[in-house]
Amino acid sequence: GGVVRALDSSTTHRVCAGQVVLDLCSAVKELVDNALDAGATALEVRFREHGVASLEVSDNGSGVRPGDFGALCRRSCTSKLRAFAELRQVGTLGFRGEALSSLCAVADVVVTTCAEGEAVGARLEFDAEGELCASAAAARPRGTTVAVSNLFAKTPVRRKELERHARRDFARAVHVLQGYALVAPNVRVAVSNQPAKGARTTVVHTPGGAGKQLAQVMPAVLGAKAAGCLQRFQTQVELAEGAGAVNVDGYVSRAAPGCGRGSADRHFFSINRRPVELPKLTKALNEVYRTHSATGQVAMAVLDIKMPPEVVDVNVTPDKRTVLLHCEKTFFAGIKEAFAQALEPARSTYELNMTQPERRAVSRKAVADNQAEAEAAGEAGAGGKEGQDGTGQ
Ligand SMILES: Nc1ncnc2c1ncn2[C@@H]1O[C@H](COP(=O)(O)OP(=O)(O)O)[C@@H](O)[C@H]1O
Ligand SMILES: [Mg+2]
Repeated sequence: GGVVRALDSSTTHRVCAGQVVLDLCSAVKELVDNALDAGATALEVRFREHGVASLEVSDNGSGVRPGDFGALCRRSCTSKLRAFAELRQVGTLGFRGEALSSLCAVADVVVTTCAEGEAVGARLEFDAEGELCASAAAARPRGTTVAVSNLFAKTPVRRKELERHARRDFARAVHVLQGYALVAPNVRVAVSNQPAKGARTTVVHTPGGAGKQLAQVMPAVLGAKAAGCLQRFQTQVELAEGAGAVNVDGYVSRAAPGCGRGSADRHFFSINRRPVELPKLTKALNEVYRTHSATGQVAMAVLDIKMPPEVVDVNVTPDKRTVLLHCEKTFFAGIKEAFAQALEPARSTYELNMTQPERRAVSRKAVADNQAEAEAAGEAGAGGKEGQDGTGQ
C-alpha cells in the first residue's frame, strides 16, 4: 500500500484550528466579530491574567436559539454564508464557521446564551471536537457570553509562548479592541483585565449609543490629548477604468509639532467597516508625514476605507485581518497625494529655509505649548480617559 494517507478528521481539525486561532489576539477578534455580527450594541471583554487564565466576551446580541446549540461549535457550521458565490458580498465579519470550532480545539469553551423570546437561557459546554457535551438552564438577559480558558493548553509550545509574551499579546489584543471601539462608535465597549493579584482594571471604555460618531469616541479610546491632535481627513481615489472609487474618511494627526508620535502604534484602519491590518498604508502615511514633521515623527490615523467589494479580498488569511487589494498602487499613490495636501497648510507656516537645529528648537517649543494646551483642555473635563489604556502609553 501507499504511504500517502488521509489524516483522520480530528487531526486535520487540530492542525487547521491552529491557523484560525493563532494567538490571543485572533481569539479575541473572532469572538468580537461574532458579537457584532449578532447585532450587539454593548460588548464586554474580560481578561484574566492578560488572557493567560481566560478571556470572556459578552454581548447583548441576538443570542443563539436552542435548535442551533448542537451545531454552534461544529466545523464549517455558520448562519452567515450559504455558498461560495456569496463570498464576494459578505457583509458579516465572520463567514467560515471556523472560529468557535477552532477555539474548542485549542481551549476550553463555555457558552451561555439566551435568544429573544426564550423563557430561560442555557449554559453550554463543548469538547475539543466542538461537540456539545453538557447543557444546563441558566438565567441571563438576551445575548451571548463565550468564555475561553486554558488557551493553547493542549499545544505546549504555543502555551509557553502565550505565557512568556502575555503582556505583549495582551497589548496587541487591546489595540485590536480599540480598533473595534473606533469602527463601531454606537456600540458600548468595555475591556478589562483581572491580574493575578490586585484589582481589575478597565483598559478601554466607550459609552456607545445610537447615532454616535467616530469623533465622539476618539477621546475615550485614544485619550483626550491625542484626540485633540487629530484633523478630519476625507478623500476619494479613482481606481482604474470601471473599477470604481475608494472613499477614505477618518482622522489623522495634524502636522503641528507635538502632534505626531514616535512610532506608528496608533494606526487604526478598516475596510468596509472591517478592522484590518494594512502595513503598506502605515508605510505610505509615515513617508508623507515625516516630510511634514520637523521632528521626524509619524502620524496617528483612524481611517475607514470604503471600496467596491470586488477590489478587496478578505479571504486571504484565516484571521481575515490581512486583505488583498487589487489596484493597490493607484490607491496608495492617491492617498499619499491627498494626505500631503491635507498637511500642506501647516507646512507653509514653517520657515522652509530654517536650519535643522533651528527647526528642532521651534518644534520643541511648540511641543511644550501643545502639551500645556492639551493638559489644560484635559483638566477642563474633556472626559478623557488618559492613562487608562493600559498599553504602556
Ligand atoms: N455571539 C454570538 N451571538 C449569536 N450567535 C453566535 C455568536 N457567536 C457565534 N454565533 C453563531 O455561531 C455560528 C458559528 O460562529 P463562528 O464559528 O464564529 O463562524 P462564523 O462567524 O464564520 O459563522 C455563527 O454563524 C452564529 O450563527
Ligand atoms: Mg465568527
